[in-house]
Amino acid sequence: MPIMEKETSRGHDSQVLPKVPVPPLKQTMDTYLKCVQHLVKDEQFKKTKAVAEKFGAPGGVGEVLQKKLLERRDKTTNWVCDYWLEDMYLNNRLALPVNSSPVMVFPKQTFRDHKDAIRFAARLIRGVLDYKALIDARALPVDFARGQLAGTPLCMEQYYRMFTSYRYPGLKTDALKVQMKATSSAPEHILVACKNQFFVLDVVANSKQLNETEIFSQLEKIMKMAENPKERDPPFGILTSDGRTEWAQARDALTKDQTNRDSLALIESCVCVVCLDEHSGLEPRDTTRAVLMLHGGGREKNGANRWYDKSMQFVVGMDGICGVVCEHSAFEGIVLVQCSEYVMKYVTGSPSKMARASSVRELPPPRRLLWKCNPNIQGLIAASGDRLQRLVDNLDMDVFKFKDYGKEFIKKQKMSPDAFIQVALQLAFYKCNRRLVSTYESASIRRFQEGRVDNIRSATPEALAFVTAMTDERATFADSEKIKRLRNAINAQTDYTIAAITGMAIDNHLLGLLKIAKELNMEKPEIFSDETYLASNQFILSTSQVPTTVEMFCCYGPVVPNGYGACYNPQSDHILFCVSSFWENTETSSAVFVKVLNEGLLEIRDLCNRSGAAATKPADSSQGAGQPRKSGK
Ligand code: COA
Repeated sequence: MPIMEKETSRGHDSQVLPKVPVPPLKQTMDTYLKCVQHLVKDEQFKKTKAVAEKFGAPGGVGEVLQKKLLERRDKTTNWVCDYWLEDMYLNNRLALPVNSSPVMVFPKQTFRDHKDAIRFAARLIRGVLDYKALIDARALPVDFARGQLAGTPLCMEQYYRMFTSYRYPGLKTDALKVQMKATSSAPEHILVACKNQFFVLDVVANSKQLNETEIFSQLEKIMKMAENPKERDPPFGILTSDGRTEWAQARDALTKDQTNRDSLALIESCVCVVCLDEHSGLEPRDTTRAVLMLHGGGREKNGANRWYDKSMQFVVGMDGICGVVCEHSAFEGIVLVQCSEYVMKYVTGSPSKMARASSVRELPPPRRLLWKCNPNIQGLIAASGDRLQRLVDNLDMDVFKFKDYGKEFIKKQKMSPDAFIQVALQLAFYKCNRRLVSTYESASIRRFQEGRVDNIRSATPEALAFVTAMTDERATFADSEKIKRLRNAINAQTDYTIAAITGMAIDNHLLGLLKIAKELNMEKPEIFSDETYLASNQFILSTSQVPTTVEMFCCYGPVVPNGYGACYNPQSDHILFCVSSFWENTETSSAVFVKVLNEGLLEIRDLCNRSGAAATKPADSSQGAGQPRKSGK
């Protein structure tokens, strides 16, 4: 079983938030059928409908499970979070880089030499420690929802796991462990990776945290120590880039030796990892920087200069390619953004805090982590390196800045920017494939205690009606019809968003019903082995809005072999899209997707302009697309 140890003291804010609701069974069944009907063949839908109706019928299995789920809701702080964590992350056997860990990509930095780079790293570490101090003191201001249903306070629990979590690989399932609140006097250390070697950088000496100059001088020592080829160990970090079962097996082999156990214990208890990367030798374009953050460039570059189990890895490349890699199971991208922005503002926004020589202490050098290797472990490292290389070669990434308009233009149309972008993504997919597919958009449920996310199923029937009108070659649709369909699609998307952020979406609920059936040792209800259900959980389009207020962007890989990852960052006058797919799949191409996305966004703009959409009243919508909904309504 996955372990999730929780801190004893919860954020004060969590106490006052409501619990995630359990939606009514009938509502979920109706929504489920509506979500899938237009995505599957008629025959298959008929079967699915019959199965779902049987499941949801009065006195049916669904009612039994629903009752148990409601009991679980009463007994727990959050009925879905453990189920969701296992299903979304811990049971997933795929390698963390590309498949699971999102990254933040910082603007390219200009470093004249390695000293500049470690000066940057030293400031970054100070920024991280300052941010961590705010978290430890529970002094971060409580976040409030923006956009739809703005104004509600949000759960802060995810922040408290940023520097205290570690994801242990398991043979069948991983375990996310969150350290119990450490005493303030406990020594803290950061793991520094340099030339694939690992070093323990103690950040407290004589009960006092190191200042920026002291950190700088310790990093210089690390760089020197890493130079010595005689002391160099094999690249153990690459094992963490492997499939979770493979890494668990390798970890078992490592832990047979006490030296390795000691090194692992130091890694697992660090605050975060700082990776001092070698020059990549690549042109630092957005796309290149994104892929280098996602996988380090394989073993020939910085792919082994990582430890993927740790929640936060800050990367500082000697060539100025910098960012953050995040193990996703402990928190969401939005929390990652907050920390990344704080740290970048700290690094760039304030004058250097290099201390006077007199206040710099002479510190013992950081410790190099020692390992015991044998031919078996050597073989495992080589095999992990091969598999990482395959992932590196397979990733087809395209970072695309759409410059023709941004959120402001969309708001002027009295449309939700997020819903608009989602509909544009549907149009792009349809242009490529002449069909829509099961789509995932993450919706935050931090309005609730310990809330993580649920799914907005963006491939709505209304979106299908719109994209078919937009791509119809016989010109049967007048602009008035197209704009009507656009508004309908945006209304439907906005309605789903509001349902999701208020805990009324279907994915978490269906998962809860399935898990309860398992817990009761019941035979798996037919609805969950139905072809439609299985297909509806293959998210060929996996999307997420991750907005930033400082120049940087988030990206991630696809979640299925034949899919796209599409992360977007809407700004007032432009939208940044990070589209990923796999080269091995012949049906996908990030460059083609980006090309048609661009085309579609321009076509929608022209349609709005022609229709004078800004001037006309919004379509009759009782549910939100006309204006963003305020909280409490
Ligand atoms: N007319 C004019 N303006 C509108 C509008 C309309 N009809 N509808 C919305 N707007 C405005 C909003 O007021 C808001 O204004 P602001 O920029 O001043 O805050 C802005 O447009 C954005 O709103 P919208 O585009 O509707 O989206 P949102 O901000 O509510 O975001 C989600 C929707 C689903 C992305 C958001 O609720 C969410 O869950 N975010 C978290 C996603 C996540 O977890 N990502 C990380 C995963 S790892």
